[in-house]
Amino acid sequence: MSQDALKQAVAEAAVREVQPLLEGDTIIGIGTGSTANLFIDALAQYKQDFDGAVASSEASAERLKAHGIPVYDLNGAGTLPVYIDGADEVNAHLQMIKGGGAALTREKIVAASSRKFICIADQSKWVNLLGEFPLPVEVIPMARSYVARELVKLGADPMYREGVTTDNGNIILDCYNFMLDDPLTLEQRINDITGVVTNGIFARRPADVLLLGSESGVQRLTP
Ligand code: A5P
Repeated sequence: MSQDALKQAVAEAAVREVQPLLEGDTIIGIGTGSTANLFIDALAQYKQDFDGAVASSEASAERLKAHGIPVYDLNGAGTLPVYIDGADEVNAHLQMIKGGGAALTREKIVAASSRKFICIADQSKWVNLLGEFPLPVEVIPMARSYVARELVKLGADPMYREGVTTDNGNIILDCYNFMLDDPLTLEQRINDITGVVTNGIFARRPADVLLLGSESGVQRLTP
């Protein structure tokens, strides 16, 4: 089965997973990326069953609106019942690396504001140890060089993601070669660097459920 077919299968499984939560006034959180896009497309047929969504990026907001799904600002939407999003890597604790699409900060905010985080991923994202995927760090532009030097002190090889500005007007440093055997501590240490907005480790707020697309079907995993 192709990677695209696995993503499609998990997107459809995620729609089945959230269906019991959909009521007239429900606003759900929706993430960013190719898997989240497939989820949005699959969810659209049920748009009459819920109120709308909070999106973690302008791109997802546009896709939702194109389907006629109302998009709300997080402020005023309260605590969301569920957030659905992809990942670049996920481990058995359902800790993740995210931000390959540069939407990590809004993803982290919407995830933090949601009672349940459902991660949707194909089997290529499953890892024993996080860190092969370069860790994205969102940085205030004027702090780029300073933060890069601090990240080197933490053991990383940061690379400026040329030509990318986040939805928040910031830049991304992709960090290679981080030792990620303690994701919770590293997430905090990177966030403590002045000028860092956030980083793509989701350990403090791991997923609650992982729908993992594999050749043998969609597995539903919990930590
Ligand atoms: C966006 O910034 C990312 O966190 C995505 O959720 C992640 O890159 C997964 O994307 P795909 O679903 O396209 O693999």
